[in-house]
Amino acid sequence: MKHLLTLADLSIEEINAILDDAQGFCDGTLKCDLSGRIAANLFFESSTRTQYSFNVAQEKLNVRVVSFNVATSSMNKKESFYDTVKLFDAIGCDFLVIRSPEVEYYKQLLGHVNAAILNAGDGTGNHPTQSLLDLLTIRQEFGKFEGLKCCICGDIAHSRVAHTNFEVMRRLGMEVVTSGPDMFMEEGMNFEPFETALATSDIVMMLRVQHERHDGSVQFDKDEYHKNFGLTAENVAKMKEHAIIMHPAPFNRGVEIADEVVECDKARIFKQMSNGVFVRMAVLKRAVED
Ligand code: CP
Repeated sequence: MKHLLTLADLSIEEINAILDDAQGFCDGTLKCDLSGRIAANLFFESSTRTQYSFNVAQEKLNVRVVSFNVATSSMNKKESFYDTVKLFDAIGCDFLVIRSPEVEYYKQLLGHVNAAILNAGDGTGNHPTQSLLDLLTIRQEFGKFEGLKCCICGDIAHSRVAHTNFEVMRRLGMEVVTSGPDMFMEEGMNFEPFETALATSDIVMMLRVQHERHDGSVQFDKDEYHKNFGLTAENVAKMKEHAIIMHPAPFNRGVEIADEVVECDKARIFKQMSNGVFVRMAVLKRAVED
């Protein structure tokens, strides 16, 4: 069984193979039946998109899913994360889809589980299936990666999406810049002022401010943030003609993105969500391949 922990572990050829399979599932030209396999979707941190699009992907591939709710699990009786995951491996699950607030939680499991670990997000670390669905959306739009410029704007320091995309997009030949208020910027991540980035990027990827990862020291005024770093209709008018808007979601309307921009002509946000199912089907298929 093949784990999917980070995209940095995968070659460009492997990434393109996953995207090709995802496109095949999207077009209806690729079929795959994983009957007899069982998945446990273990979300130790909140999720709507990732959890339920994995669910739909599993349904489409005839994978049975064991339900798990951390709030009613024996973690209430002080059972550890490690022992909880080991249980699902011991009872015969083939796929362990895991989201945890702990960066690189998977390291403690490697060599101790037989099932494929599919990383559904590890703290501020990585979110490989999100990046794959972002890449699929970009490839569908532009037919290539090489030479495109992507601006990732918002709470870069706390975003696993920013970290994963920054690494993989550059490896694919894209120019990646990050933008937003100083307090959310990260050294070495190619800062560019918002105005410049907006006007020169092919992809403008907005990020939510991740309050749940702040330690209480962040001073935040949502109206001020919207005025300075929000993607408003006025800002959309400054984008290149062919440029698109992306967002991993959940989004906060009226904060990092204006209500009327979420579904405007340039927005591909719900397209990203649809692609999430196809990418996760491809990742499940890959996990059982030799
Ligand atoms: N994009 C994303 O990971 O969304 P969820 O937190 O709802 O899964």
